[in-house]
Amino acid sequence: MMNSIMKMNYKLPGPKSKAMLERGIPLFRNGLRYEEECKKAARRGYRGASQVVVGRAQGSFVWDLDDNQYIDFQNGWASNPFGNAHPEIVEAVHWAHTRYGFHYDTPHRYELAEKLVQIMPNRALTRINFEISGTEAAEAAVNLALTHTKRRYIISFSSSFHGEALGSKMLSGTSNNNHYMEAWSGGVITAPYPYSGEIPAGMTQEQYVEYCLWYIDNHITSSIVPANNIAGLIIEPGLAEGGNWIPPKRFMQGLRELCNKHDWVMIVDEVLTGLGRTGKMWAIEHYDVIPDVLVFGKNISGGIEPCAGIAARDEIMGDNEHYHTGSTYAGSPAACCAGLKTLELYERENIVEYVAYLGEIAKGIMQKWTRYSIVNEVRCNGLLLGVNFVSPDEHQKDWWFAREVRSRMMENGVWAINDRQTNVRLYPALNMEESVLREGLAIMEEAIAHVDSIRQSSFGDSPAWPTGDAGF
Ligand SMILES: Cc1ncc(COP(=O)(O)O)c(C=O)c1O
Repeated sequence: MMNSIMKMNYKLPGPKSKAMLERGIPLFRNGLRYEEECKKAARRGYRGASQVVVGRAQGSFVWDLDDNQYIDFQNGWASNPFGNAHPEIVEAVHWAHTRYGFHYDTPHRYELAEKLVQIMPNRALTRINFEISGTEAAEAAVNLALTHTKRRYIISFSSSFHGEALGSKMLSGTSNNNHYMEAWSGGVITAPYPYSGEIPAGMTQEQYVEYCLWYIDNHITSSIVPANNIAGLIIEPGLAEGGNWIPPKRFMQGLRELCNKHDWVMIVDEVLTGLGRTGKMWAIEHYDVIPDVLVFGKNISGGIEPCAGIAARDEIMGDNEHYHTGSTYAGSPAACCAGLKTLELYERENIVEYVAYLGEIAKGIMQKWTRYSIVNEVRCNGLLLGVNFVSPDEHQKDWWFAREVRSRMMENGVWAINDRQTNVRLYPALNMEESVLREGLAIMEEAIAHVDSIRQSSFGDSPAWPTGDAGF
């Protein structure tokens, strides 16, 4: 059921949220820096980034501590396939907690592994290893590739994101937070991802794709590390944290060819793009490519109990004496019961087909937004949705536009993601009602139109931006 919340005009943060956020300033990382950021934003005539402290959440909605209601496009960072707190998944997890507490080996680990094998691309990945988080799973996949090939290097890509632990940080191209840890990246070779935001001047997208493939096949193997000491590559078939950007088919297929040519293990990181997010069970299925290892996470938790892992070809994981990963709570009974119930709901509700349907609706609406001067690109693959903003007149740093659009959306009751990038990213629940999706997108368009119209009347150092409340 949906409430019409258009034009709520919330004054954010509300008093209870503000008090809670202030409590966090001395406690959490960046507490003080955040306050500085807000002041900086205010000096330029912008609001500080809005934050939500969640008071409660249900289905496709969240309420903050002040009881302001939002359509939830944030979706627990794309982890809640059936919206917030789906009662059947909550019940399954509660049942497991009550029956077992925590123990490592229960039947549910086997049952979930069996189910996962059945839904892997072409049913080609028949071995499963559970982890708790996507971060650990990405690292496990690399561990597997290295031990299988007995080679020492792995290729990862600029603009990518694979997690925030030491190893996955080093694999991630998006992170600018690797400072002072560079020495730990010894085994990672970063290759260019043909992301549209990074195309060298004068090159077309198609030429850049060919260049990126050439760089891997020639430059890396002749000037950095010989091909026979490279174990494989790890790639997101959809950039996710890097801005929901969708790579061209030729690139993914080209990578598969290179992996075949050099005996490299092809790892696809589907932590965010997987399990229906793009309107196929796995995003890699849009490319007619079968990977050697697939990393899953987020959605398999049902949004209730952390669960992640990898699936691999039998010949890679089946008899690998050096591969060893995992952690105490990996594949816990509650996690496996969450995963099992989630997959049952996927089947019962034909959720992947529904995402494809809803994704087409979103695309139809969003593609028209390129008519706004601040919109650079609209990105849609199923319900992996994003808008990339530019500064048409270079007077403002472009990420301000994204942030300002996102702030305006929040004031009108839609919660989306902008983490200091030039993008606003949307992750509707996979079962979101069509009317709710449409309403959320209408509010987003209003925000874009509003910010665009302000931009057109703003120049140089004295922009006509809403000064409003500068956050806290
Ligand atoms: C593609 C990808 N890999 C790995 C991760 C890390 O997953 P987690 O946050 O569960 O550790 C993320 C998180 O956003 C992700 O998007």
